[in-house]
Amino acid sequence: MTGETPHFYGRRRGRKLRSTMQKLMDTRLPELRFDPAAPAAAQFGGAPADLFLEIGFGGGENLVAIAAARPEAGFIGAEPFINGVASLLRHIEDGGLSNIRIWDDDVRLILDGMAEGGLAGAYVLFPDPWPKRRHAARRILQPAVLDSLARLIRPGGMLVLASDHPVAKGWLLQAAVAHPSFVWTARRPADWRTRPAGLVPTRYMKKAEREDRVPNWFLFERRPA
Ligand SMILES: C[S@@+](CC[C@H](N)C(=O)[O-])C[C@H]1O[C@@H](n2cnc3c(N)ncnc32)[C@H](O)[C@@H]1O
Repeated sequence: MTGETPHFYGRRRGRKLRSTMQKLMDTRLPELRFDPAAPAAAQFGGAPADLFLEIGFGGGENLVAIAAARPEAGFIGAEPFINGVASLLRHIEDGGLSNIRIWDDDVRLILDGMAEGGLAGAYVLFPDPWPKRRHAARRILQPAVLDSLARLIRPGGMLVLASDHPVAKGWLLQAAVAHPSFVWTARRPADWRTRPAGLVPTRYMKKAEREDRVPNWFLFERRPA
């Protein structure tokens, strides 16, 4: 990612936070805020075994689940929607987790500052679909973001995409398949119809299923350099 500051088109704020949530934002967020300028070892109290990034974690359900399963790894979550950030902070408190750092803003602002090959994997789960063609530039997986992910994810690392939206499934797949650094690992339909082990249903995934939309997961591997 290079050039001008990207414009974020989503919502940054929803309902007013309850006082307990606001207190978490005031006390815990400053302690857990990801610092793109600091090495991972300094932020996680020692070098994490592996480092993962989740882009647009929503309420944080998936992020806390994958972080709880791998306490020796570090997890960075990016989400500009503060109600989602507050929700993640509550999950972190409830689970007593210490291996998540939070970037409460547009992920595109931190990608350039992160170390090449520093990520073992990245997740983009149920991104805003922006189905209209005239909004195509608002879709998260722009070529510059994919180029950044290709730089950040180490060879053999994973890029995990998911969507329930027919248009978004198309652009997610097209963008990643077209990128020379990523190879789609699917061999059979069950591979994109089955939620990968370790991932939990997110709010958007549950909503999709209630509304009879079918979620799919697309797993890509970072090719060797
Ligand atoms: C449809 S929601 C899905 C949330 C969650 N992944 C889930 O499955 O429940 C998409 C999320 O991506 C976030 N998002 C959109 N653009 C983003 C960006 N540039 N950086 C980080 N998060 C972003 C939005 O704020 C929103 O919370």
